Amino acid sequence: MKKILLLLFIFIQIKEGQAQNNLFIPPAMEDSVFNLTLIDTTHVFFDTIKTNTFGINGSILAPTLIVNKNDSILFNVTNQIGDTTTMHWHGMHVSAKNDGGPHSLILENDTWSPSFKIRDDAATYWYHPHLHKRTNDHVMKGLAGLIIVKDDNESSLNLPRDYGIDDFPLILQTKAFDINSQIILGHNQDDSIRMVNATIDPILNVPEQMVRFRVLNGGSQRVYYLGLSNGASFHQIGSDGGLLNSPVELNRLLIAPGERAEILIDFSNLIGDSIQLISFASEIQKGIYGAKNEGTSPVQIIPGYSNNPLNGNDFEVLQFYVQNSTSNSIHTIPTTLNNLIPFQESEADNLRHFQLNFGETSPVGAVMGPFTINDKFFDMSYINDTVLLNDIEIWEIFNHSGIAHPFHIHDIQFYLIERSGGIVPEHERGRKDVVLVKSNETIKFITKFEDFYDDTIPYMYHCHMLMHEDEGMMGQFLVRYQEKDTVNNISLIDESKIFIFPNPASDLIKIKGLKSNLAEVLFYSLQGRLLQKNELNSSNISVLKMEFDYKGPVIIQITTRENIYKKIISKI
Ligand code: C2O
Ligand code: CU
Repeated sequence: MKKILLLLFIFIQIKEGQAQNNLFIPPAMEDSVFNLTLIDTTHVFFDTIKTNTFGINGSILAPTLIVNKNDSILFNVTNQIGDTTTMHWHGMHVSAKNDGGPHSLILENDTWSPSFKIRDDAATYWYHPHLHKRTNDHVMKGLAGLIIVKDDNESSLNLPRDYGIDDFPLILQTKAFDINSQIILGHNQDDSIRMVNATIDPILNVPEQMVRFRVLNGGSQRVYYLGLSNGASFHQIGSDGGLLNSPVELNRLLIAPGERAEILIDFSNLIGDSIQLISFASEIQKGIYGAKNEGTSPVQIIPGYSNNPLNGNDFEVLQFYVQNSTSNSIHTIPTTLNNLIPFQESEADNLRHFQLNFGETSPVGAVMGPFTINDKFFDMSYINDTVLLNDIEIWEIFNHSGIAHPFHIHDIQFYLIERSGGIVPEHERGRKDVVLVKSNETIKFITKFEDFYDDTIPYMYHCHMLMHEDEGMMGQFLVRYQEKDTVNNISLIDESKIFIFPNPASDLIKIKGLKSNLAEVLFYSLQGRLLQKNELNSSNISVLKMEFDYKGPVIIQITTRENIYKKIISKI
C-alpha cells in the first residue's frame, strides 16, 4: 500500500511538470507556557534527500507563537543542537536579562526559562538565536520563528486574522546548498535557493477575498523588492512593531533582513487565477544586496555576486492560486488602523551619532566587510553606549560604506524622523526596530528607553545582515537608572581646580584646568533638555561657543574618563 502511494505521489509530481510544493505553514501555538526544544535533525528540501537542519519542535523553523498583550508568558527553551546558543525575542520590549542576546548563553542540553509580560502592540515579531559569531549559522540551519501579538485595538478592526486561512506567515529566506544538498554556512554569496517558510517553489491556495500576509525577511543578507505579477497594488497595514495609522497602498515593498511587514492582498473576483508574488530585483537600486550591482563604488566586489542568478533578476517568491472564499470573508480595508503619536524632536534628551563603516582591513567603499559601527568591532566586554532610563533619544545613523545595512536595535521600537535629509515615506512612519540605511545615507530615529534598566547586562544594536553582525558589526548599550538632575541635587565642580567662565556669558565659554585630554561637554536646560554637545580635545584651555538661542540658567556638564563635572551658568 505504501509503495502504491509513493508511486502515485511521484506520478503527480511528474505530471505537474515543475515541482511545486504546498507552502508549509508553521504550526501555531497559543498559550502562556511555551516549551521550545531546539533540535539537531534533518529536513527534506529536495525530493527524498535529507538535509541536516536545526528546528524548534520540528525539522525546520519553529512554531508560530500567538500571545496577547499584557499576558504573562513563560518559555522553556531547551538546547539540543550540540552547540551553545541563545534565543532572542526580536522586536519585543523585554528586560536585558530576558532579551536573549549574546550574553545569555544556553549551553548544550540546558533549558533557559525566561518569563515576562507582553508589553508590545499587536504586530509580527520573531525569535532566533543570537550567539556571537554564530548567529548566521544557527539561523541558516533553520532556527527562526514568528511571534504574533494580539491586542484590543487590532481585535476591534475588521481585518483577516484566521491563521493559515486568511492570515498567512511568509518567512522569506535564501540559502546556499552544496552538491550533497547540505546547507553551506559561513559568509556565503551563493544563496541562490529561495524559499518561503522553508518551502522551495511554493504554491499557496488563497481564498477569493482580502488576505493578510505577515512577511518576515528572515534571511542572512538578501533584500527583496516585492510586488505582484498581475500589476495590482496591495496595502501595507503594519510595520515591525505595530499597525500603521492607516493602510498605505503600494506597488512595491522593499524588505531587508530582520524587517517585517503586514500586507493585505485583495484576491476578490480573481477565482481560478494564478498570481505570483515576485521580487523585482532588477529594479533594486545599486548598493543594496540583491541588486544587479552590489556596490556604489567600484573599489571592491563581492566574489561570486554577479554569478548569483537572483542578483538583479526578477524572481518568483510564491505562487498564489485563488480558490473559493471562506464564509465571513472580508473584502474591504479599514481606513484607520491605529493612533500612533511619535515623540517630538523637541522632547529629546540626547542625540547620538553612529557611523556604519568599513573596518581597517576593508578598502574605502567596501561592500564585502568586515564592517564596524563607530569604527569599532563588537567586543563582548566593552559597553559602547549608556542610555538613561526614561530618556527620549534621537539616533542619527550615517552609512559611510558602499552597501546598504539594515540597522536593528533591541529593547525599543522607534519612529523614523528623517531619511536622506528628506521626509520619511508613509509606510515607514510606524513603529520599527530595523531600518535599511543605504550607502551614503543618513537616517534619524527617535525613541524612548522605558521600563527596564540593568547595570550589567547590555542590549545590542547591530546590522541585521547576519554575516556582518557575526563579523563584528554590532555594539551594545546599557540602560541605567539615574535621577534626573534638578537645581537642588546637582553636584557642582570644585571651582578651585576647574574654571568655567565668564558667568554670566553671552556666547563664548572658556574651560580651564581639566586634567583629562578627552572630554565631552553637554549643555542642558534646568528641565534636562539637551541644548548642545561638544567634544573637547585640549586639556589646557578650551573655548566653546554656545550656539543655542535659549537664554537663562544653563547646566554645563563635562564628562571625562574619570569624572562628571557640572556647573550652572547664566546665559544672557
Ligand atoms: Cu533579530 Cu539582534 O536581532
Ligand atoms: Cu551590514
